[in-house]
Amino acid sequence: MRKQIVAGNWKMNKNVQESTQLASEIVAEVKDLNLDNTRVIVTPTFVNISEVVKVAKGSAVEVAAQNMHQAKSGAFTGEISAEMLTSLGLKTVILGHSERREYFGETDAILAEKVDAALANGLEVIFCFGEVLEDRKAGNHFSVVESQIKNALFHLPADAWKNIVLAYEPVWAIGTGETASPEQAQEMHAFIRKIVTDKYNTEVAGDVSILYGGSVNPGNAKEIFSKEDVDGGLIGGAALKAESFIALVNSF
Ligand code: PGA
Repeated sequence: MRKQIVAGNWKMNKNVQESTQLASEIVAEVKDLNLDNTRVIVTPTFVNISEVVKVAKGSAVEVAAQNMHQAKSGAFTGEISAEMLTSLGLKTVILGHSERREYFGETDAILAEKVDAALANGLEVIFCFGEVLEDRKAGNHFSVVESQIKNALFHLPADAWKNIVLAYEPVWAIGTGETASPEQAQEMHAFIRKIVTDKYNTEVAGDVSILYGGSVNPGNAKEIFSKEDVDGGLIGGAALKAESFIALVNSF
């Protein structure tokens, strides 16, 4: 059965003290929750990951990375490899966030290489994609999402999908306070599950968790997460405070 996931994307926020503080608060809150089929993930910035890993050790809170480079090692100043992440005990990396695509030139082709490098190192990938406002207005959102998924993931064999989590994040909803309606989210998530079924099979499609991201908050999460094909959320702003983040974990 696919898992429900609440993943906090801390982006470029919080110094080391703030990061460990937030992580401690989340660890303390999560201790009393019955998390049966729910995963709770936090993604601090690279420089603070080790300290947050120490805080989360032994708890149900998982720590993941926001990005990584596709090369094994070498002359890539400022970059981080998959092996560096696994050497810290990390099991998951976010790839393809729209901010990486927009501000750092990450293309589908680069992302396909990153996905391969992550999987080759035993990492699970939370793969992000989503249309910009113009695409939605023009009615192109389904074809845009389909090509993003196809170009970066459809070369994978079926068994690689056990280490893939999908995150649909319409760019117009990220950090804008404007959320896709629960119906819009469900419609897209059902479409995504269908294209994965068509490419692979119902088992792969049924087992993959599909998260929604874009201005999810404690006020709208319950309704969005209640939709059949929405398996949780990738959360930016509301993940930066323990109280709102835990409220999201409790929204299932
Ligand atoms: P937001 O960010 O919740 O602040 O809209 C979501 C994301 O970028 O993953």
